[in-house]
Amino acid sequence: MKTTRMTKISKLTIRRGSIKDIDEITKIEGRAFGSHAYDYPSLRYMLEIANSVTVVSIMDNKLVGYATVYFRKNSKVSHLESIAVDPDFQGYGVGKILLNEVEKISIEMKCSRIVLETFEKNVSALKLYERNGYSIREIVPDYYHTPYGDSRNAIRFQKKLEVK
Ligand SMILES: CC(C)(COP(=O)(O)OP(=O)(O)OC[C@H]1O[C@@H](n2cnc3c(N)ncnc32)[C@H](O)[C@@H]1OP(=O)(O)O)[C@@H](O)C(=O)NCCC(=O)NCCS
Repeated sequence: MKTTRMTKISKLTIRRGSIKDIDEITKIEGRAFGSHAYDYPSLRYMLEIANSVTVVSIMDNKLVGYATVYFRKNSKVSHLESIAVDPDFQGYGVGKILLNEVEKISIEMKCSRIVLETFEKNVSALKLYERNGYSIREIVPDYYHTPYGDSRNAIRFQKKLEVK
């Protein structure tokens, strides 16, 4: 029987991630991005630097997704560095929940805007951002160092945040 969207994510919880989650995050990163995944040292850096916050989504004690956002001193712009959901759980709203959470944290950090880049042909990511109020700021030519087939271009998205 096909699990409904609501049933699948109804037991989902979100918490702050830490270096203790690195093995599970590395697995998800590899499964979600394949050969374009961040490697272990890059993920360790992301989790350990002082100006980053990682959130993880948990279902039945299993980590099924993560997102990392960076902050800069004296800047009101946060940067979504990475977001990935285990392929078995994609399309059920986990990405949207992670995105909402990093937006909430950005607002708590008094950011008035969040910015991110994604590969210009990454359909699921483009859909996620467009359906959650992000608008295209610019195309960034040759953004990615690893060639994605015939293109390395990124789309830079941004969203205004309502700081209370
Ligand atoms: C991008 C990613 C994080 C989205 O996570 P997700 O949990 O699948 O996203 P959601 O289920 O919250 O979907 C959000 C919206 O995008 C749509 N969507 C998700 N995957 C889609 C796909 N493959 N094709 C079309 N639409 C898709 C959903 O229908 C949903 O729209 P809705 O809320 O109007 O129904 C996930 O696909 C992923 O990890 N991809 C690989 C890693 C990656 O590309 N990360 C982003 C790099 S910038």
